[in-house]
Formats: sequence, C-alpha cells, structure tokens
Amino acid sequence: MTKLDKPAITAAPIHDLIANRFSPRIYDAAATLSQEELESLGEAFRWAPSSMNQQPWQVVFARRGSELFDAISQNGLTGFNQSWAPTASAYAVVLANQLEEATARDQAETFFDVGLASQQMVIQAESMGLRAHYMGGIVKDAIAELVGAQDQWVVCVITLGHQGDLEGHDAAIVERERTPRSRKDSASVYRIES
Ligand SMILES: Cc1cc2nc3c(=O)[nH]c(=O)nc-3n(C[C@H](O)[C@H](O)[C@H](O)COP(=O)(O)O)c2cc1C
Repeated sequence: MTKLDKPAITAAPIHDLIANRFSPRIYDAAATLSQEELESLGEAFRWAPSSMNQQPWQVVFARRGSELFDAISQNGLTGFNQSWAPTASAYAVVLANQLEEATARDQAETFFDVGLASQQMVIQAESMGLRAHYMGGIVKDAIAELVGAQDQWVVCVITLGHQGDLEGHDAAIVERERTPRSRKDSASVYRIES
C-alpha cells in the first residue's frame, strides 16, 4: 500500500489541514461517500462568509454511479481530467448565481465569495480524511445544461473521495502524482512591513 503524502514545505508553521491538502489524481475507485458526509460538505460550503451575506452560490453533488456523475464523466470533462476524475467518489459542481442587482455588485465579488465557499468545503473534506481536486478543465455549457443551471455560471467541478493507492496505476499518472508541489517564493507573495 503506497499512498502519497505531499506536505507543503513552508517558511513558517501552518496548520496540518492546509499543509497536507493537495490535489490528487489517484482516488480509491471502490470508495463511496455517505449522505451524511456529503451533507457535511454542503454545510461547510453554505456557512462561508460572503459580501453583504448575499451567498451567491450553489453546489450540486453527484455521486459516482448517478446519472449526473456519468454524464459529467462522459461529456463534461476536458483533456487529462477525463482519465482520472471518474475514479473519484463524487463531483461537486460549483455554481455562481447571476444576481439581479448585478450592478450593485461587482462580478469579481461573486467569484471571490464562491471561491471562499469552495475552499471552506475542501478544508472540511480534508478534516474528514477525504481529498478534493478542483477542475477548471470542464465543458461549462454541457454541465450547465446537465445540472439545470438557471441564471448561474458553472465555475468549476471538484472531485471528492478517498486518496487511492499508487500501486496498479499507469506510470504516467503515478509520475504526475509524485511531482512535488511548488509555489512562488514567500517574498514574492507576501511582505510584512513594520
Ligand atoms: C480553479 C482551479 C481549477 C483547476 N483546474 C484543474 C484541472 O482542470 N485539472 C487538474 O488536473 N488540476 C486543476 N487544478 C489543480 C491545480 O493545478 C493545483 O491546485 C495546483 O497545481 C497546485 O497543486 P496542489 O493543489 O496539489 O497544491 C485546478 C485548481 C483550481 C483552484
């Protein structure tokens, strides 16, 4: 049994939940997520902060084996995502509401809020021993139709599930999985003035 750990190499201590999160492409294809687990993920998403508390978001979960999951796997993914994502236990389709009072609210605020809710859900997933992987490589129009999005943008799809064993997978995907995580250097990302 070989499961990867890919902790962030940080310049100062950070919480394990943040350091250990990474975007896997090898899931346990036999694992499932319970109704309760998905509800906890939905609640973490729901309780995110948002500008003026407008909560311009929605998330649709599709469990592996559902019609929606199969349809997204077949018609909603692009490129390499098509090969690995269908082994996840569920997809979370993240939607941003096109608010009527759009003029009172910059679109950037909407997407900022949706990002907060999404990452809050991802960290909740990590706390439950799950892994998550954002995908922007998706066919947004097809997914919008599949989920019946009304006045909503499809922002991304997040795969959810249990991390899988490296053994038994193609060398190409194992190599990608083993690729070290990297970031810009600290000094170019933040500065502290005193
Ligand atoms: C909005 C968004 C879209 C992404 N789209 C994809 C994608 O389509 N396919 C993919 O393999 N990874 C995708 N990623 C994952 C990033 O490549 C990954 O987060 C980044 O390389 C950092 O790696 P880490 O999450 O393991 O730290 C996406 C991430 C985000 C936040």
